[in-house]
Amino acid sequence: MAGIVDGVEVQIAEEERGYRYFRNAVERHWDPFDIELERDRENLVEYSEENEDLMEYTDMLRKSLAMFGAGEEAVTEDLAPFAIAFDGIEDQMFITTQMYEEAKHTEFFDRYWKEVVHPVEEELGMEKSSPRDPEFYSPGYEELFDREEEALNRLLTDDTPENRVIAHAHYHLTVEGILAQTGYWGLTRTFEEDGDDDIAHLPGLVEGIAKIRSDEGRHVGFGMSKIKHGLEEDGVDEDVLNETLAELVPLVNQTTNYIYEDVDDPGELPGPNPGDLASYALEKHQDRMGQITDDAASVPDIQELTALD
Ligand SMILES: [Fe+2]
Ligand SMILES: [Fe+2]
Repeated sequence: MAGIVDGVEVQIAEEERGYRYFRNAVERHWDPFDIELERDRENLVEYSEENEDLMEYTDMLRKSLAMFGAGEEAVTEDLAPFAIAFDGIEDQMFITTQMYEEAKHTEFFDRYWKEVVHPVEEELGMEKSSPRDPEFYSPGYEELFDREEEALNRLLTDDTPENRVIAHAHYHLTVEGILAQTGYWGLTRTFEEDGDDDIAHLPGLVEGIAKIRSDEGRHVGFGMSKIKHGLEEDGVDEDVLNETLAELVPLVNQTTNYIYEDVDDPGELPGPNPGDLASYALEKHQDRMGQITDDAASVPDIQELTALD
């Protein structure tokens, strides 16, 4: 792909989606180290000293932070096959921003563990925990990321329109679209400033996640447009998409349930409960599927994709 200006060929086709999303990413640049975490530490310690049921929440929080941190790390590592498969500088430019952003998301969670989780554990006289502790991870989660990596790596040896749709369905629609966007929405609703007063407010976590969610909106929109192209222009059967999702959705559900595993009555928790998360995930997923499979519908514009609801 090359741009044309006044009939003359130039490097970049500015109307291409890959380039437009690249530009949006550059303009919305943020630094994980600019986020203030002091109040998160204070609020967590204060909350723990006043509430005996803290362990339920700290455990849920640590499981969530560990799985999201490792998830961001995995998607950073796994993305490269798309960069090799794509043609055209505009899509290549977009992928460089996505890889950089996934690395920043990883860094944010690593920093949060070092600068919030560890000092809080220390203050409370608890043993320092590791985000790598296998106890924080559900079997469904491990399986989901193994399959995602495999679907992406397949492009290196067998790059077909069908395999591209399968890879995007794993990476952009399921891991980012369903698991991450739902989990980040849930964490925001639970720990935001005007959320439930029965739980510690974590303004730094909420701010970091807002930046991440906005980036993820752009990533998911890019993947959706690629899947739509695969179905409409390359003739990939819609069943390929539906079957892939049907295999993966139970793994996502298993992961969400794992977070609440040790909670006696999840319906009573402050913030959204597992049922709210499931309805949010389903509603968003159905919207996206409609935009992908309905010929008359289109992928939302970049402002809508990066906006937070
Ligand atoms: Fe990410
Ligand atoms: Fe992402």
